[in-house]
Amino acid sequence: MGLGSDMYRQQILDHYKNPRNYGELEDPDIEHVGENPMCGDTIKVSFIGDGCAISQASASMLSGELRGESLSAVREMDRDDIVDMLGVDLSPMRIKCAVLAEKVAQDGVAIHQGEDVEVTKTE
Ligand code: FES
Repeated sequence: MGLGSDMYRQQILDHYKNPRNYGELEDPDIEHVGENPMCGDTIKVSFIGDGCAISQASASMLSGELRGESLSAVREMDRDDIVDMLGVDLSPMRIKCAVLAEKVAQDGVAIHQGEDVEVTKTE
């Protein structure tokens, strides 16, 4: 992780240790799985995940941010939104971790809308 205030770092650690909205949804409308090909860690949205602090904190925070959002709003998110949400500077390697949950959510929406996506990978 690059520069960033202690507050943001603590928030990331808190979401990593105490992930929000973690667990399987019963009968979800959208279910999709993705992975960070650099390390093979996976996140599913509602979410269930297993990975580094950045990927899990990002999924936890995003799971709160996405509540009540429209599907088009989910699709319009970009990596800057995730970096802003996390509030820390990240190396290119760690950006892949940070955007994994966002990518999974967006690809899940795309599938729900009839598009052809298999496994999500961060680039
Ligand atoms: Fe695997 Fe970050 S190192 S998701």
